Amino acid sequence: MLRFLDSGESHGAGMLAVVEGMPMGVPVRREFLESELARRRLGYGRGPRMALERDEVEILGGVRGGRTLGSPVALLVRNAEHRKWLKVMSPYGEVEAEPLTRPRPGHADLAGAIKYGTRDIRDILERSSARETVGRVCAGALAKSLLVCLDIHVYSHVLQVGEARVTAAGETPRREEAAAADEDPMRCLDREASLRMREEVDRARREGDSLGGVFEVVAYGVPPGLGSHVHWDRRLDGRLAAAVMSIQAVKGVEVGEGFLLAGMRGSLASDPIYHSKRRGFYRRTNRAGGLEGGITNGEPVVVRAAMKPIPTLASPLETVDLVTKERVAAAVERADVCAVPAAAVIAESAVAFVLADALLEKLGGDSLEELGARFRDLKRRYKAF
Ligand SMILES: Cc1cc2nc3c(=O)[nH]c(=O)nc-3n(C[C@H](O)[C@H](O)[C@H](O)COP(=O)(O)O)c2cc1C
Repeated sequence: MLRFLDSGESHGAGMLAVVEGMPMGVPVRREFLESELARRRLGYGRGPRMALERDEVEILGGVRGGRTLGSPVALLVRNAEHRKWLKVMSPYGEVEAEPLTRPRPGHADLAGAIKYGTRDIRDILERSSARETVGRVCAGALAKSLLVCLDIHVYSHVLQVGEARVTAAGETPRREEAAAADEDPMRCLDREASLRMREEVDRARREGDSLGGVFEVVAYGVPPGLGSHVHWDRRLDGRLAAAVMSIQAVKGVEVGEGFLLAGMRGSLASDPIYHSKRRGFYRRTNRAGGLEGGITNGEPVVVRAAMKPIPTLASPLETVDLVTKERVAAAVERADVCAVPAAAVIAESAVAFVLADALLEKLGGDSLEELGARFRDLKRRYKAF
């Protein structure tokens, strides 16, 4: 129902995101879009580029008077650094730049160069860079603008950086707690663990090294009945996993307790069902992360992901030159030491987009008014079920 495409290179003119399928009448505020992009820069351990730029959004289409028109929404984020890179990145005529021939292990550099037959890895790295997530965050911010009208909120927080991890992993935070994650430099809800994480980042930075970690995205207020059990590509767990897994450097995704369930007894691994007049059906635990059989069950949707350490290092790894075939040090681009807090924000966008899509699939509606009425009716029917 919701589709989105983006275009742009890391040091190109800008990033363009086009989202098609938004209903008419959804309030869209430029300040909100820009604050979401600013959140993509958060986190202790980021490189100098994060401080250099501010992402400003131009709305090119699909919005009138601060509300969506139902037509494709086009958002452009110009690249503040592009002027400096004109000779290297100009789309017009020949570029004036030495080819980059030292592929970085852990990046798309070598695999992409072989696949596309280029001897200049800049042809690959400019697009494989995580700068591309500007487009995803724009699309996610539009999805959040829709979800918030239905009182659905998507937040994230960091569970682990390097070997430092929170002590209470497994407990879904209350909505107000999760909403406050940005107040911590590591976007971690456990102050003591956050301190240990920052110490790890400092140590890795001193040693020219980098770190990965684990983050969690939680969506609150999601009604039961989104997604479906009937076919593999309709299962919402699979759709959420694909959206989060496709974020650069994410190497594993789990729903709810995920990998932990593998080691548990069946008698403990599911969430017993309760019912009350006030709440309808509900659970006291949420090991399933709000999804059973690929369908939301009314509990918060919980998706966790593991991010590998940043592959570009201040003390570069060895590689082989594409042309001379000599052993050389890998190319060095400015790099983050740790980007787990930012990856969590990007994953919020990915989850929000998939949920908005699933909601529109379930309820349809050309306008927010129509969608809102159907949503309220759905909630009434489910409560009385
Ligand atoms: C928010 C974010 C920031 C990142 N920053 C960097 C960086 O500064 N340097 C780097 O080498 N990789 C960085 N990465 C990771 C690479 O983009 C990623 O590892 C690379 O594209 C290879 O993709 P893969 O790890 O998914 O195979 C970042 C990833 C994210 C999500």
